[in-house]
Amino acid sequence: VVANWKMYPQTLRAAKELVSATKRALTKVAGVKVVVVPPSTFLREVSKGVKNAKVSYGAQHAHFERVGAFTGEVSMQQMRDVGAAYVLVGHSERRAMGESNEETNKQVVAALGAGLKPILCVGEWDRDEDGEYLEGFARQVREGLANVPKNKLKNIIIAYEPVWAIGGEKAPEPHVVHEMVLYIHKILMEPFGKAALTIPVLYGGSVNEESARVMIDEGAVQGLLVGHVSIDAKRFAALLKSLK
Ligand code: PGA
Repeated sequence: VVANWKMYPQTLRAAKELVSATKRALTKVAGVKVVVVPPSTFLREVSKGVKNAKVSYGAQHAHFERVGAFTGEVSMQQMRDVGAAYVLVGHSERRAMGESNEETNKQVVAALGAGLKPILCVGEWDRDEDGEYLEGFARQVREGLANVPKNKLKNIIIAYEPVWAIGGEKAPEPHVVHEMVLYIHKILMEPFGKAALTIPVLYGGSVNEESARVMIDEGAVQGLLVGHVSIDAKRFAALLKSLK
């Protein structure tokens, strides 16, 4: 379960409390691992201390260049240095700011090079009856993983996040998600062959304590990408408990 905190909370103190609450909730839940993805300023502090096999950390974004004059940016290597093991790539909120498939691809390749596991977020903005959205979707998937050597696939995670479902309380029916998982694997069979089937797919978009379990059971996903519910300690604990 990936907890995408976005630009919350406001202070390091609140961030530490949230991580502690998440760890406490996890003590009662077997078989679930959480990746906490806080604002990058909190990463070093929240990730230090005693190692917890159930909790690891990720960055919400990092630049694809290793070093250079890129004011305001942070590199993959720098994120790794402050405790990240994962990095979100191509979240729709970044794509909305202009991030292209080409850039997400460069980030995927850079993340792998820096020893981070990229979580490539893909998803259609909306759906049309003729299914034309599927083409743009396929491009996000295919171009996002271009130039990735087959032996690196084990470090890749894909998150299916239909943009129309983000930020609310109603996730799509699990069978809709299941179809997209099949489609993602089908798209990736072309460049990668059967190895494509081993890439884990997560679901994200309005996952809450009610929908989490059924999405795992019936949506054929191997995990969840949770936004606003993950910054509400009580609700997130309930969500984790539901996966027991
Ligand atoms: P949400 O966000 O759970 O608030 O819908 C998910 C995401 O944007 O990753």
